[in-house]
Amino acid sequence: MPLSGRHISKSAQAGIIFAVGMLGLGLTSWPATAQQLSGGARIYFEKGGCNQCHGTNGDGVGDDAREHGANFRESALDKETMVMIISCGVPGTNMPYFEKFSYTDDRCYGMTAADAGTDKPQAPITTFLAKRDISAVADYILETFVGQGPVAPGAEKPAQPPPAAH
Ligand code: HEC
Repeated sequence: MPLSGRHISKSAQAGIIFAVGMLGLGLTSWPATAQQLSGGARIYFEKGGCNQCHGTNGDGVGDDAREHGANFRESALDKETMVMIISCGVPGTNMPYFEKFSYTDDRCYGMTAADAGTDKPQAPITTFLAKRDISAVADYILETFVGQGPVAPGAEKPAQPPPAAH
């Protein structure tokens, strides 16, 4: 127990523990903190937490190891459909709805919360998104992942930092 010896003051111990803690945080949230993100990338990695399930590489291998999402690299969706899915989620799956008023009326798939019942998607664990944010993150997914083919072998993790957003 070298750190608890009487030669290291309480405040120095606290400092070391703090530094180690920050290092841990830095490592686990590296893609989002390595650089300032803006636009759709910021929604994907920070505000929406999409990478937790869809992964830094958009391949559906979540950055949160307990989660997975759709593989955007194989997605054939157009922007309009993507915006709808991000707004409404996918009933009966883990894909949350990100538009605050979804299921308060029948704007999503013609279903109210009562119609959807237990299939009603979950609310985001991060935050609801404004329409312009939903549009920006759909553009980011289309530009960055869709049609890019499989992640190069060996490059799955650690993930590449996202390109600087415009
Ligand atoms: C808790 C996990 C989770 C989070 C967080 C999450 N998703 Fe998903 N997402 C999923 C799952 C699971 C599916 C696949 C649903 C299905 O089986 O059809 C999916 C499907 C999608 C699809 C449809 C893709 C296709 O080709 O069918 C889009 C688009 C999408 N997600 C966008 C997003 C965006 C954008 C965010 C962040 C704002 C996000 N997701 C956050 C789990 C998640």
